[in-house]
This record gives sequence, C-alpha cells and structure tokens, in this order.
Amino acid sequence: MILISILLTLFYVEAVVVPWLDDDPFIDVTKPSKQELGFPPVLPPNEITDDTRSLPSEGFIPDYVLKHCPLVHLYSEEEYWPTDVSEFIHHFRVMTNEGKLLRNGTLDLKDLKEEFLDLEDPQEVVESSDTYLSSLDDFDKDPRWMLGHKPEYSSGRINDAPAVLIVVDKGNGWVDAYWFYFYAFNLGPFIMGYGPWGNHVGDWEHSLVRFYEGEPKYLWMSAHGGGGCYQFDAIEKKKRYNYIHGKPTPEVVERPLIFSARGTHANYASVGQHAHDVPFFFSALSDFTDRGPLWDPALNFLGYTYNGTNVTPVSKREEELGTSWLTYKGRWGDKQLPWSDPRQRWCPVQWRYIEGPTGPLTKNLERTGLCQRMKWGNILRVCTPRRTIKRGQGLDAERNDMVGDNCGVLLYRIRPKWLRSLFRIAMWRGVACFLMDYFTG
Ligand SMILES: *[C@@H]1O[C@H](CO)[C@@H](O)[C@H](O)[C@H]1NC(C)=O
Ligand SMILES: *[C@@H]1O[C@H](CO)[C@@H](O)[C@H](O)[C@H]1NC(C)=O
Repeated sequence: MILISILLTLFYVEAVVVPWLDDDPFIDVTKPSKQELGFPPVLPPNEITDDTRSLPSEGFIPDYVLKHCPLVHLYSEEEYWPTDVSEFIHHFRVMTNEGKLLRNGTLDLKDLKEEFLDLEDPQEVVESSDTYLSSLDDFDKDPRWMLGHKPEYSSGRINDAPAVLIVVDKGNGWVDAYWFYFYAFNLGPFIMGYGPWGNHVGDWEHSLVRFYEGEPKYLWMSAHGGGGCYQFDAIEKKKRYNYIHGKPTPEVVERPLIFSARGTHANYASVGQHAHDVPFFFSALSDFTDRGPLWDPALNFLGYTYNGTNVTPVSKREEELGTSWLTYKGRWGDKQLPWSDPRQRWCPVQWRYIEGPTGPLTKNLERTGLCQRMKWGNILRVCTPRRTIKRGQGLDAERNDMVGDNCGVLLYRIRPKWLRSLFRIAMWRGVACFLMDYFTG
C-alpha cells in the first residue's frame, strides 16, 4: 500500500507537476550554449542585417541542408505513421475554444489562417490561437486517415506524406534547418499495464540541424516538449547515395540517424527504452525505439524559409498550398475530451485524451540556443550539446548500449537487480546520474 502511494506520488510529480513547471517564464532560452563560444554569435532573425545574412535570398534552401537531413527510423510496430497535413485537414472543422463552430468541413489547408472572420458576425475577428481543429470522425475508432503512411522499403520515401522543412537564417554563417514530422495521432504510454494515457489527435515533432558555413554542427530533436541536444559528430550516421531532386547519384553521403518512438513519436538518438526526459530515473513512463522502417524526409517535403515574420515557399508546389496554414496558431487536434465523454478516462497522473499540439511556427524557430525551451528539470538552465549518444536501456537496446549513459555504465553492471534499485535510490533517484552525465556526457 505504502509502495503504491509512493509510486503514485512519483507519477504525479513526473507527469503533472514537472510539465506544469516547464513553462518557467524566468528561464532565458535565448542564452547561447557554451559550445558556441569561439564562433560568431547566432542571431535571432529580427537582428539580421544585409552584412550578417548567411543565405543569399528568401526561399533559398542550400544543398547541404538536404545532404545532412536526418533519416528517421520509425518503430517497427508503429500504428500511427506520418501523415500529409493536406489530407489530414479534410477531416476537420475549426471550433473556437468556447465551442462555437467557425468553419465546417470539408476544409482545405488554405482555410487555415492566423485569424478568422466570424461568419455570423463579420465585425468579429477570432484569433486562431483561440481555436482548435475538431475531428469530423470518431478518432477513438481509428479512421483510416489517422493511420498515416509507411515509407517505401527501398528508398525510404513516403509518397503520401511530405515532411515540412523550414530553414531559418541565423546570421554570421549560421543556418538552422527545422524538419517537422507530422503524425495524425499520438498514442501515449501505458502505466503499470494500463493505458494508453495522454493520447491526442495531431502530433507535431521536429528536429533541428544547425549549420555553420555549410557544415553541420549540432542536432537537436524533440521529445515531449523537451528534447535531445547533440554535437553533430556524436550522432550515428548511415551511408547512403546522395539524392538530388529525388534521384540517386553515385555520391555517397553520411546521413544522421534519429529514432521515432512507438506511438508518441518522440525522437531519440538510439534504440531501446528511454525514460521521459526528466532527471528522475523512472522508467515506468518510457518510450521505445527500434530500427523499424527507415523514413527519408528529404525525398518528399514541403520547403520554406522563415525570417521571423514571413514564410517564403521554395517552389511551385508550396506556393499552390499557400503559407497561411503555417500562421495558424490554434491546436491541430481535438480539445481534451470532457470527463463526461465515455471515451475519456482518468488515472491519477493523466487523462486518456488530451488536447492537440500547436503548429511549426509556434516552436520557437527564432531560438539562438539549441533547445526549443528549457524544461524545469534542467536544473542547470543551459542547453549544452552532448558529446556522446544517450543510450536506451532494456530489451530493445542493442548489445553495446549498456555502456552509453554514464551513470548507466555503473548502474547496469550491478547485479542482482534489487541491489541496483537500492543504488539507484541512493543516488537521489537518479538525480546524481543526471548531474554526472551532464558533466561527462
Ligand atoms: C521578411 O520577409 C518579408 C518578405 O520577404 C519582408 O517584407 C520582411 O521585411 C522580412 N523581415 C525581416 C525581419 O527580414
Ligand atoms: C457541418 O457539415 C456536416 C457534414 O459535412 C453536416 O452534417 C453538419 O450539419 C454541418 N454543420 C453545420 C452547423 O452546418
């Protein structure tokens, strides 16, 4: 009984209190990381002048961005594969947070805007941030459009689901390439065999490759509102023929690899089991990654540049879709279901269905640091790229993965298991590992 109470309290702290504390307004995410000293400063888009610009023009994406585009290993038993936003939107209507229908289906991507006129009261302007997309179908029944599309086995191309690439000039030779991965549904984790919890319609994940004078320097990847931050050299690479305009060339390039977790699509740099990225070493809330189907987002993407105020499409295809959908600030999925809805469930840490995420331009693309934002759990208040890969644990981890996580090196060698658990508790439930890992990772 006592054990269960302790467990529930820890779940509560990890799943509810920690995310709530994440939005700490006093943390300066714009502070540059330590590693960037010695290089000229990374500039936010609104401080760039003609003298400091890295790219020749808006709407221009350099070849090196595609050459170093991350390949994504999706989970082998994934049920919710990448989705095309243009197809997704047909199955939605726009509602205000107060529950008023603003635009009925069938919607097109062009119908999404920064603000809407209320059709009944044309004087009234509704900010998109006060709206959400509401599904026309019952998402609890897995309609076909929610399942997405698998990559082709040979090329890794997903014909029916383009990725979204947004390139941002950060001045002084720096260029950020944000690759967005859209999935129609996020299936949350199971807790002690029950679940899934924290499901939502619409799932925007992304990675950032930061270049200095055409050379990739850092790779950041999103996971549950936080993410992993690496020196580009530390990331596992895969040799592949370089594709130009969708056709393979004889040139071999080394592409970085990231791993998308089962259901949640959180991104990691290795395979195995990953505790959610909080400093508590608590694997009950875990993600799983493996070497499932390989997705090459560079073979089918919608490309844009962004200068802090304007989005510029890179080709005719994007021009035809328009750019207003990127300025939509509402939620890309249904609101959290009310308690009274028979599909909704609750456990002491989480609801079964929670609200959808907001779109790409709300993900701090103006950042000069590498992280999207600081998590409360990041006690040291900086976003420093790791020099070694954070390894997964558990059955799915590959043989040499036991030597990854610095604390893990010590901990995983301890047998029997109960003794290891005692050690783990003695290290302030992993906070000591987190600190050690911070300085030696
Ligand atoms: C961004 O681009 C638009 C259109 O290309 C331009 O009008 C605007 O001044 C640019 N803003 C900045 C901060 O460069
Ligand atoms: C919205 O569209 C659906 C079908 O497309 C229709 O059944 C429904 O009555 C419409 N709602 C309103 C308020 O017009």
